[in-house]
Amino acid sequence: MPVRPRRTLLYVPGSHIRALHKARQVPCDTLILDLEDAVAPDLKDAARQHIRHAVEQGFGYREVLVRMNAPSSSWFADDLAMAVNSGAQGIVIPKMRTVKDAQMTAHALGGIDKTGKVLLWLMIETPEAVLEAPFLSRALREGLCPQLAGFIMGTNDLAKETGARSGGGRASMQHWLSTCVLLARSAGVCAIDGVFNAFDDAVGFAAECHQGRKMGFDGKTVIHPQQVSVANSLFSPSAAEIMEAERIILAFSLPENAGRGAIHLDGRMAERLHADMAQRTLDLDHAIKARDVAANDGA
Ligand code: COA
Ligand code: MG
Repeated sequence: MPVRPRRTLLYVPGSHIRALHKARQVPCDTLILDLEDAVAPDLKDAARQHIRHAVEQGFGYREVLVRMNAPSSSWFADDLAMAVNSGAQGIVIPKMRTVKDAQMTAHALGGIDKTGKVLLWLMIETPEAVLEAPFLSRALREGLCPQLAGFIMGTNDLAKETGARSGGGRASMQHWLSTCVLLARSAGVCAIDGVFNAFDDAVGFAAECHQGRKMGFDGKTVIHPQQVSVANSLFSPSAAEIMEAERIILAFSLPENAGRGAIHLDGRMAERLHADMAQRTLDLDHAIKARDVAANDGA
């Protein structure tokens, strides 16, 4: 599978027409056009129409996802039909609680999407979803949701439901965040970190991006265009990481290392697993550079 950068996923309220326009100038990797919490109940129908129109107009190189209202809501069927028929690449399901919820959602999507190409994203934002992780992990490995592309943390909802606070380096949430990363990796899909609400606090935002990347997240959901370039940069391999990856790949390609599993490199041990990690770093870097070319070409 080619690597797809998903460093920044920008939420755009479906009812906010100017923001839907503005999104075409924002260099995020993915857009999440929202029908759920960012849209007031009496604007759901209008938001659905705005999103449909905007997706049909296209967003260039950006991946487009549509966030549905919860499957238990009266809006869900219309949301799903619109998203699939609009040509969006994926749907995001909020408030997932159990394996059964995931199964029913995958089934509903499969019933409408005859191409099998629309990707499914599940939000981890309820206490039940975190507690369900081991069962969900097993069910996914047994083929529960073939369309699953990843998990997205919903840290605002988790704070609301648990009383945990997001400040202080998110100490109270670290276990839940790591659980999400483990769940995603066990299923071989993406893990995306939650949002940082104080979009004027550049220092706090950068610190949270660093933290999320160290925990293993592939990218971060963002709420404002001004968060995008920082998160793009902090979720990209750095120049030092690229150089290190190239050195590891080169070292293992030398004839004297051909039959070796572990080698000495600059005072450290490098194993073949480090060569695999190095290759992933280089693949991501190439994909990001290809994306930059597409963005410069106005695609
Ligand atoms: N996507 C695209 N464009 C956005 C945007 C977003 N998420 N947030 C702001 N913009 C645009 C604004 O439309 C404005 O452009 P304009 O001058 O052409 O109209 C520009 O960026 C500057 O916006 P600003 O005035 O700084 O912010 P705001 O007060 O209009 O909006 C928020 C602040 C938080 C309400 C807004 O950023 C937002 O709605 N974010 C997403 C919320 C969301 O989806 N939440 C659900 C998931 S957590
Ligand atoms: Mg939520």
